[in-house]
Amino acid sequence: MRVLVTGGAGFIGTHVVDALLARGHEVVSYDAVLASAHGGPPRAARAGERFVVGDVRDPDGVESALAGVDAVCHQAAMVGLGKDFADAPAYVGCNDLGTAVLLAAMARAGLRDLVLAGSMVVYGEGRYVCARHGVVRPGPRAEKDLAAGRFEPLCPSCGAELAPGLVAEDAPLDPRNVYATTKLAQEHLSAAWARSTDGRAVSLRYHNVYGPGMPRDTPYAGVAALFRSALARGEAPRVFEDGGQRRDFVHVRDVAAAAATALESVRDVAAAGTFTAFNTGSGDPHTVGEMARALADAHGGPAPVVTGEYRLGDVRHVTADSARLRAALGWRPEVRFAAGMREFAGAELR
Ligand SMILES: NC(=O)c1ccc[n+]([C@@H]2O[C@H](COP(=O)([O-])OP(=O)(O)OC[C@H]3O[C@@H](n4cnc5c(N)ncnc54)[C@H](O)[C@@H]3O)[C@@H](O)[C@H]2O)c1
Ligand SMILES: [Zn+2]
Repeated sequence: MRVLVTGGAGFIGTHVVDALLARGHEVVSYDAVLASAHGGPPRAARAGERFVVGDVRDPDGVESALAGVDAVCHQAAMVGLGKDFADAPAYVGCNDLGTAVLLAAMARAGLRDLVLAGSMVVYGEGRYVCARHGVVRPGPRAEKDLAAGRFEPLCPSCGAELAPGLVAEDAPLDPRNVYATTKLAQEHLSAAWARSTDGRAVSLRYHNVYGPGMPRDTPYAGVAALFRSALARGEAPRVFEDGGQRRDFVHVRDVAAAAATALESVRDVAAAGTFTAFNTGSGDPHTVGEMARALADAHGGPAPVVTGEYRLGDVRHVTADSARLRAALGWRPEVRFAAGMREFAGAELR
C-alpha cells in the first residue's frame, strides 16, 4: 500500500518510513522540518520514498500529498514540554489545528485508515494503589512538596504512600501540560473523524521512545536525548528529582514496527467508525536514574549526578500495560533495555 507519513523526517517518523519501506510499502513523507526539531537540513530521501516538505496546517499541501495514498500514519507534532506557556499557540497549531486540517483532507479524499502517534502523556500520573483505598488518583504535585524533595504523590484520601502500577488504556485521562493537552485533543479529533466518516482510527500511545536519531538536547527533547547529549559533551547526565521516577523506555525500532503492523492490520483490529487506543511500551519499567546509569556505563562515564531539580509539568511514575497491543497485533518488543541503552550510548543523535 501507499502510506502518507506526516512527520516523516522526525525521530520516530524516520524509523516508521524505514519499517514501511522494508515491508514493501510505498511511502510519502510530509514534514515541515521545524527548526525546534531539526538543527539542520532534513535527512536525505530513502529509495522508494517521496519526501515532501510541507506543513500539516496547509490544506493544499496536505491534499496534494494525499494523492494516491491508502492510509495515513500521523506522526507530525511539536513534542516535549517546551520552554514556557508562550509556546502554547505553537503546540495547539501544529498538533491540533494540523490534525484537524489533515483529517478534513482525508475526509474529502475518502481515506478511512489512520494510525496516530499517541502518547502516554494523556494519562497524567500513572496508576497508583493505596493499601487502604485501592486504586487512587493523586492530583498534580504541589511545588512546595517538590521544592522540599517530597517527590512521591501520596494517597489523596489518607496521605499514605502509594504503590505504582501499570496503566491500561481505560485509565482516566488527565493531561497535565500543554503538550499533553494537544495529544489528547488529537485523539478526540480522530475519534470524531472516524465517527463521521466511517473511518478507523488507531492511536498508539507511545511511552518513552529512545534510540538512534533522537534529537539533541533542546527544550523539546526527551530525557534520554538530554542524557545522551550530556555524555557526548563529556558531562554527567543531570538526573532530576531523586532519580526514582519510573518510566517505560521503548526502543524506536519496536515503536516503528508497531506503527507498521497497525497500518497493515487497522481493518482487522478496528471496526469502521471507531477509535481505539493502544499503549505502546516495552513492558519493562525502569527508573530515570537507572536509565542514566545504563547510558553512562555504556558510554564509559561520567557517572550521573542526581540534582533534586524538578519541572512542574512532570509526573512521577507512568508505566505501560501493553497487553492490548500484544493481543490485537501480535506485536512483541524485541529490543531489551540493556542492549538498547548500550546501542543508544554510541548512536548518532540528530
Ligand atoms: N519521542 C517520544 O518519546 C514520544 C512519546 C510519545 C509520543 N510521541 C509522538 O510521536 C510523534 C513523533 O515524535 P518524535 O519524537 O519523532 O519527534 P520529532 O520532533 O523528532 O518529529 C516530529 C516531526 O514532526 C514535524 N512537524 C511538527 N509540526 C509539523 C507541522 N505542523 N507540519 C508538518 N510537520 C511537522 C517536525 O518537523 C518533526 O520532523 C509525535 O506525534 C509525538 O507526539 C513521541
Ligand atoms: Zn489511602
